[in-house]
Amino acid sequence: MISSKDILKRRILIVGSNGRLGQSLVKKIMNHEKTELMCSSIESESLIRDVEYRKADITKKDQVKKLVLDFVPDYIINAAAFTNVDKCESERELAWKINVSGVEYLAQYARLVDAHLTHVSTDYVFDGNDGPYTETDPTNPISYYGRTKLASENSLKISGAKYAIVRTNVLFGPSEFGEPDFVNWVVDSLTGKKKIRIVIDQINNPTFIPDLADGILKIVDLNKDGIYNLGGREFLSRFEFTEKIAEHFNLDTTLIEKIVTKDLKQPAPRPLKSGLITLKAETELNYKPRSLKEAFILMTKEQSEL
Ligand SMILES: NC(=O)c1ccc[n+]([C@@H]2O[C@H](COP(=O)([O-])OP(=O)(O)OC[C@H]3O[C@@H](n4cnc5c(N)ncnc54)[C@H](OP(=O)(O)O)[C@@H]3O)[C@@H](O)[C@H]2O)c1
Repeated sequence: MISSKDILKRRILIVGSNGRLGQSLVKKIMNHEKTELMCSSIESESLIRDVEYRKADITKKDQVKKLVLDFVPDYIINAAAFTNVDKCESERELAWKINVSGVEYLAQYARLVDAHLTHVSTDYVFDGNDGPYTETDPTNPISYYGRTKLASENSLKISGAKYAIVRTNVLFGPSEFGEPDFVNWVVDSLTGKKKIRIVIDQINNPTFIPDLADGILKIVDLNKDGIYNLGGREFLSRFEFTEKIAEHFNLDTTLIEKIVTKDLKQPAPRPLKSGLITLKAETELNYKPRSLKEAFILMTKEQSEL
């Protein structure tokens, strides 16, 4: 017998749909027959064609109100953020508005229409002294970006909205629009015989964006609440990650120069020994991130298809 649940479509609003993660989420669900999708970002048009799209600036409460109350979603996924970690140090007011106030507004109107809000956060909520981290480890951000992301998590927790927080780290993967990701930057640089300086003291588990999008959509499918770490399968330094890229794409590894983070003199401090343990997501969501090798192979295929 067909129940009303089978007939009714779930309504999903993706905020930050023009970003790297946003684009991957949109591509994965735009053709779901049981999903009514609304995309939104700050630009006047959607980068991905043939989707319903509404321009909205999440720092403007009235625009968030209109976006949410007009569409009345069952689920909201927030992939919008001020993601330039160094600029967050100098543009603190804007960083707070986007990363904290924007989430407060989304949570406020999610609660009003009883929508579930999945919000994307980061391992930068930790200090990087003793990672990798589980979902319950104590937070201690060392950068302004990290502080805004932790504040966004806290504001969501007290908002009264149904929510999930997804922490992730070092995103890479195909995106049709926007700046090249780290993998493509390494490939382009080494192909052009350019020397690159890469840090040996930042450890993470780099996350393939399509895996992250799958994990987030599992949270939605299973209606999960709480915090989930979604990271990659391998824990390694940025230098080792770069070597693996070079080896996979048959490029000259001698062009990769070892440096330490403090040599870069970046405005924002970075958590060094970091990374996210994904056991909870593997157990509860059946989250299965690809290996780096599998991800690189898929990226090569995707690129040849673009
Ligand atoms: N990238 C990483 O390595 C990484 C690591 C850990 C966690 N994360 C988290 O993962 C999430 C997705 O990251 P991402 O790499 O996909 O970021 P992204 O490519 O920078 O995408 C963020 C999107 O949000 C949009 N946006 C900015 N301000 C907005 C506003 N006021 N209203 C509406 N939209 C706005 C951006 O538009 P503009 O481009 O026009 O500004 C962009 O399209 C973020 O929450 C980030 O903090 C990322």
